[in-house]
Amino acid sequence: MAPSTLTELAGKETLQASFVRDEDERPKVAYNKFSDEIPVISLAAINDVGENRAEICQKIVEACENWGIFQVVDHGVDTKLISEMTGLAREFFALPAEDKLRFNMSGGKKGGFIVSSHLQGETVQDWREIVTYFSYPIKSRDYSRWPDMPEGWIEVTKEYSDKLMGLACKLLEVLSEAMGLEKEALSKACVEMDQKVVVNFYPKCPQPDLTLGLKRHTDPGTITLLLQDQVGGLQATRDNGNTWITVQPVEGAFVVNLGDHGHYLSNGRFKNADHQAVVNSDCSRLSIATFQNPAPDAIVYPLKIREGEKPILEEPITFSEMYRRKMSKDLELAMLKKLAK
Ligand code: SIN
Ligand code: FE2
Repeated sequence: MAPSTLTELAGKETLQASFVRDEDERPKVAYNKFSDEIPVISLAAINDVGENRAEICQKIVEACENWGIFQVVDHGVDTKLISEMTGLAREFFALPAEDKLRFNMSGGKKGGFIVSSHLQGETVQDWREIVTYFSYPIKSRDYSRWPDMPEGWIEVTKEYSDKLMGLACKLLEVLSEAMGLEKEALSKACVEMDQKVVVNFYPKCPQPDLTLGLKRHTDPGTITLLLQDQVGGLQATRDNGNTWITVQPVEGAFVVNLGDHGHYLSNGRFKNADHQAVVNSDCSRLSIATFQNPAPDAIVYPLKIREGEKPILEEPITFSEMYRRKMSKDLELAMLKKLAK
């Protein structure tokens, strides 16, 4: 009988064929060959006025221009809450398959558990199990789709998502100021901010060099706050996407990724970080991505076009249209790749 979750495949000696990637997509750099090039920025003085705040702003601007990715420490989210959230998540993924599959997201259900993802049009699967919570706007919360095991996880997730919404709003203020706009500019452009929490569990993998935990992509939304454990596996690119680096895990830090929405609003000044997750045969890895997205009908168009620049979008479009175009482009690329084989 076919194993029902990925965790059950982790003990095998060879990788199931559906996870084997084409050579050009396979990992180029080891999961634990860390690079400290991505800036780590302390937010301790973020509520100050004057020079200290301006210095944080400057560091964030540079990171967004050069990488579209940076890490934040002293961010004000309680370490106890972080360890409760990660501890409960690990306990969930260690549950027997039938308990996890009670929350199975198949059949278009919003929120719950997925054994393995793959992008539209792709047949190759990602080596990860996921739990997704739709957490904002509040009306999108369907608690019947929020895993209630282990006990207490729903309460902790509520608090976690509230605290991360607060942190995201602070960061959006800094980014707005960095663009030379009023503090509220980016939040206003989101209309009513959506938030989705995705908990990723990457089990040990028998042949990690042949596969990926999560395929190369940019995030579609405004910003993503990623919490990762100390194992390592998040990779970003530099040199116009030609060189991969493995992001050095920093205890208690959040990795901030700028998404496509943030990229368009800044008229391309801020990069949308190209990234992927690699896996390993030594140990499992946990990461929690909190996606801060605009409302589906929010208008996507540069908020500021600097002198001498052209708008990078031909016309204003809604966020759902932006997302639809992104997905159909991915689908087209996947088809072309299949045809070229
Ligand atoms: C993500 O891109 O959503 C997750 C990346 C990671 O697990 O490091
Ligand atoms: Fe991502």
